[in-house]
Amino acid sequence: MASWSTGRVKARKQWSDTVFSLVVEADVEPFKAGQFTKLAYHGEDKRVARAYSYVNPPGQDCEFYLVTIPQGQLTPYLDRLQVGDELLVQRSAAGFLTLDEVPAGRDLWLMATGTGVGPFVSILAEGSCWQQFENIVLVHGVRTADELGYREYIKELTYDKPNFHYVPFVSREQVPDVQAGRITTAISSGKLEQLVGLDFDPEHSRVMICGNPDMVRDTRSVLGEKDLKKHLRRKPGQILMENYW
Ligand SMILES: Cc1cc2nc3c(=O)[nH]c(=O)nc-3n(C[C@H](O)[C@H](O)[C@H](O)COP(=O)(O)OP(=O)(O)OC[C@H]3O[C@@H](n4cnc5c(N)ncnc54)[C@H](O)[C@@H]3O)c2cc1C
Ligand SMILES: NC(=O)c1ccc[n+]([C@@H]2O[C@H](COP(=O)([O-])OP(=O)(O)OC[C@H]3O[C@@H](n4cnc5c(N)ncnc54)[C@H](OP(=O)(O)O)[C@@H]3O)[C@@H](O)[C@H]2O)c1
Repeated sequence: MASWSTGRVKARKQWSDTVFSLVVEADVEPFKAGQFTKLAYHGEDKRVARAYSYVNPPGQDCEFYLVTIPQGQLTPYLDRLQVGDELLVQRSAAGFLTLDEVPAGRDLWLMATGTGVGPFVSILAEGSCWQQFENIVLVHGVRTADELGYREYIKELTYDKPNFHYVPFVSREQVPDVQAGRITTAISSGKLEQLVGLDFDPEHSRVMICGNPDMVRDTRSVLGEKDLKKHLRRKPGQILMENYW
């Protein structure tokens, strides 16, 4: 079977000028919540392909959460897609930002910027996280409040989970009911732990970080000050990371 499936856009949602979601019908292989596949189009002489995380849990229509990079090669094309349009979807998935890679612990912290929240939405929707951890915290940092994508869906998924905490951060406008500024500042100051009522410590905390590579690096660094370390299969730690660029 060919490694690419021709998918068809089934729905599209625009969250802000640059941030949008595509629901795509495509014949893809099974994947684990937190993994990514590739989307592509055929240019005149070559295929342009990039990685995108599944937002949906396994077994549902493929869904992707995207930000348009105006000077980018692929995203302006994806941004022009409308319901009924076709695109290429790689059948196989990849990636290690999955729960089976996380060592046992008590508290799962999911930290994302921008569209990096996608894999965590998939993990929450898939549902096995609720058996694996006592407490789950989703921390989402964005520039403007309209980019807090999937906020309502996250509420629906977690309405009966008293030990789930959703902590949104908005850095470039002042809005009620969300934290102002960056995730890293709130970790350093202790404000994030205070807000949630849980401390970072190597015994209990497990952290998955996804999105902007500067945020991933800096978050790892401030968590290092609280004795949390990168997790490797050969050298267990607490922090798993995925850089989007
Ligand atoms: C494992 C993985 C999963 C990913 N999942 C998603 C996802 O679910 N949603 C999503 O929107 N993106 C995701 N990305 C990023 C995506 O693969 C593309 O890199 C991005 O969409 C830009 O593609 P482009 O061809 O338009 O830009 P390119 O022509 O490749 O140019 C990208 C350049 O723009 C800069 N840049 C600024 N912001 C970003 C950004 N957000 N992403 C990438 N580059 C940026 C970088 O300097 C980069 O060199 C993922 C990346 C990886 C590695
Ligand atoms: N979102 C948009 O409106 C928009 C518009 C045009 C183009 N784009 C393109 O899309 C790309 C990704 O967009 P994005 O909205 O996901 O932007 P982003 O630049 O990744 O910002 C998302 C959030 O991460 C924060 N952040 C950035 N660096 C950080 C760090 N080192 N530590 C902690 N937090 C950090 C930002 O805070 P700060 O605000 O303090 O940086 C912001 O709150 C951009 O690089 C740009 O190329 C986006």
